[in-house]
Amino acid sequence: MKRWGLWFLGLVAVIVVAAAAFFFLPHRLDAVASPGPAAGPDLIARGEYVAQAADCAACHSVPGGKPFAGGLPFTLGFGTIYAPNITPDKETGIGTWSDAEFVRAMRHGVGKAGEDLYPAFPYAAYALMSDEDILAVKAYLSSLTPVRAQAPANDLKFPFNQRYLMRAWKLLFLPGERMTPDPSHPPEWNRGAYLVEALGHCGECHTPRNALFALDQERKFAGAEAAGWKAYNISSDKQTGIGDWTDRQLTDYLSKGHAEGRGSASGSMAEVVDHSLRHLTPEDIRAMVAYLRTVPPQTSDLAAAINPNPPAAKAPSPYAPPPDENTRETVGLKLFQGACASCHGWNGEGLQHSHAGLAGSQSVNDPKGTNALNVILHGARMDTPDGEVFMPGFAAGYTDVEIAAVTNYVLGHFGGKQAAVSPADVAAARR
Ligand code: HEC
Ligand code: HEC
Ligand code: HEC
Repeated sequence: MKRWGLWFLGLVAVIVVAAAAFFFLPHRLDAVASPGPAAGPDLIARGEYVAQAADCAACHSVPGGKPFAGGLPFTLGFGTIYAPNITPDKETGIGTWSDAEFVRAMRHGVGKAGEDLYPAFPYAAYALMSDEDILAVKAYLSSLTPVRAQAPANDLKFPFNQRYLMRAWKLLFLPGERMTPDPSHPPEWNRGAYLVEALGHCGECHTPRNALFALDQERKFAGAEAAGWKAYNISSDKQTGIGDWTDRQLTDYLSKGHAEGRGSASGSMAEVVDHSLRHLTPEDIRAMVAYLRTVPPQTSDLAAAINPNPPAAKAPSPYAPPPDENTRETVGLKLFQGACASCHGWNGEGLQHSHAGLAGSQSVNDPKGTNALNVILHGARMDTPDGEVFMPGFAAGYTDVEIAAVTNYVLGHFGGKQAAVSPADVAAARR
């Protein structure tokens, strides 16, 4: 009830501000300096790099489809919207967009016909980008082969299908200015801030949202739920964030998707690493780490704090032969022995590949088991410099009772956590 009350108040506020904004804010096109003679291979290459750092392909492609051809659905509480085609196709893509129109979309969330765009397109982050970087992305996208593909029409309930309501949202939450260097910090930190805040839009997943779907910047990077996954606390808090990680661990996690003693990136973070972060230069990764170090600490779920010495995994001989009786613990242990131990081993360091190291991983320390359960059901993969690492999904071969048992076993053995993932949780995560 309380939540609905908040929503309703929020909605009234939005409508009042929207009415005002509707009359006072015509969408104008700012003049943008044309890239001029630089619009050659260098600009295109720069645009490709910026587009990778900003991870445009993650949302504007469907798995197995042509990059940037759109069609990916975003299911929001009040309907579904689809990422459009941003290849240079003249009818179904952005082939006829001017530079100024493209800059306006990225900076003000406005479409070609002047319509307001939904903030599922993270323009609140891209608004911080420099004109030069935005135009470089445009030059890169324009250099691609046009793909003819019409994204499905959005399916939103009234009043959320009224695009002009976004004007109120923008008035409240869109940064008015692009990012300027903070002279009290060195250039490396400023580059990191730009990569994390403007391009990487890390907060879109890692920062909790308020009732109006805007990021709660008071709790920057405190962790949030993102499409069925937990995007963990990445503030500098030592217990529940990344304050205790070494520079090496952070650098490895971001650039390779795995850090010794911290586990592997799965789910949407695996995609962020795969499509975006692993393509960045070592200097840029270092700059991001320098900036992340200074994000003020936020305490989140203390029950999920990493247990550095889970007694079972750190025992001198951590493998315990299964006792005879079939208790809930032994069902999980036997499943782990049969289906998982050949890759993961028993001491948390990983047998098949270092990526299979589970020691210190946030996922096996979260007693709710959200991400561990997703990985066990759906599997995981990651490209590394020495080839693909892979874990099969177990959704098809095991019952909800078995998956719950092996998940609880893993959280107990590798996290030292008393977990209570239920078969009903498994059934929900299957969907
Ligand atoms: C988190 C997902 C996400 C990311 C990342 C993202 N977009 Fe989008 N984008 C969307 C969605 C969803 C829409 C549709 C919004 C709407 O319909 O109101 C959109 C709309 C657009 C539009 C308007 C197109 C049109 O036909 O109206 C452009 C241009 C665009 N994005 C470019 C980009 C570029 C360039 C990047 C990378 C710098 C990017 N997007 C990254 C989700 C994303
Ligand atoms: C699309 C959503 C999304 C975006 C964008 C995103 N992350 Fe993540 N991130 C996640 C999820 C989900 C996890 C948990 C992954 C897992 O369980 O393996 C995660 C995990 C992490 C972790 C590990 C935390 C821990 O305690 O294990 C770090 C560090 C991290 N992200 C940094 C970043 C940075 C830096 C950016 C921006 C460049 C970023 N993320 C952008 C979803 C996202
Ligand atoms: C073929 C080898 C293989 C098998 C079999 C396997 N795994 Fe994995 N597992 C991996 C690899 C490799 C990763 C890391 C994937 C990555 O880097 O994206 C992983 C990741 C995980 C994670 C996430 C770790 C993290 O840090 O977020 C969990 C939890 C997990 N496995 C549990 C299991 C369980 C339980 C089983 C048995 C039911 C199992 N695995 C079977 C190879 C395997």
